[in-house]
This record gives sequence, C-alpha cells and structure tokens, in this order.
Amino acid sequence: MIRMTKLAGISLLVLLLTGCSEVNDFKPVAGMDVMDIYANACSGCHGEGGNGKFGILLKIAGTDESMDEIVDKVLNGGHIMPAFPNIDEKQAKNIAAYLKSE
Ligand code: HEC
Repeated sequence: MIRMTKLAGISLLVLLLTGCSEVNDFKPVAGMDVMDIYANACSGCHGEGGNGKFGILLKIAGTDESMDEIVDKVLNGGHIMPAFPNIDEKQAKNIAAYLKSE
C-alpha cells in the first residue's frame, strides 16, 4: 500500500515536471507593458514582482543572472521552465530589466 502511494507520487511528479518543461504559448497582446507581460506569463511560477512563491521559492527579483541569461531563459526555457517563443527579444529584455530593478 505504501509502495503504491509512493509510485503514484513519483508519476505525478514526473507528469508535472515534463508538463512544465515544454513550450508556453502565452502571447503578449498589443499595448501590454512589461508588468502586464510579467503578471501573465511569469508570476504564476515566480510570484508577484518576481518575489517568489511561498517565501523564496523561485524568487527571481534581483537575480544574479545577467540580462542575456534572463533573455535566454525566457526565449529558450530552462531545465523545467518552459520556453516562451511568442515573447520577442525586445520584450524579454524589458522583462529582464524589470527583474533586475526589483
Ligand atoms: C511553469 C513555471 C514557470 C514559468 C511560467 C516561468 N518560469 Fe522561470 N523558472 C521556472 C523554474 C522551475 C526555474 C528554475 C529551474 C529551471 O531552470 O527551469 C526558473 C528559472 C528562471 C530564471 C533563473 C533564475 C535564477 O536565478 O537562476 C529566470 C531569470 C526566470 N525563470 C525568469 C522567468 C520569466 C521572465 C518568466 C516569464 C516570461 C518565467 N520565468 C516564467 C519556472 C517558470
């Protein structure tokens, strides 16, 4: 019984992780500013203003990553983080600047 629960937990985890590591089809609409884009595309995982969820989990405000690294993360995704092919480089740069300033 305990083994079954553990197995179910692991499958769920794998499902969650693989479900996340793909592509996010969020598409900014005209007139969205950087904060709108962040709120729609990123805050679900990284919390409001990049301050993370549940305290510090996935906090990215003021990250040590360089502007280029942040842009690369957004355009190409991370290990788990999805890629955002519909966010263009200029918008990604604005988001990066926003996160660095937080
Ligand atoms: C589905 C959840 C999810 C979404 C949505 C998401 N991220 Fe992430 N992000 C992650 C995870 C998980 C990591 C850490 C592991 C990795 O690289 O995948 C991460 C890592 C990062 C990092 C690196 C942080 C560091 O200091 O190492 C940056 C920067 C980042 N995300 C920015 C963004 C931006 C900007 C957006 C919105 C365009 C965004 N993320 C949307 C899950 C997400």
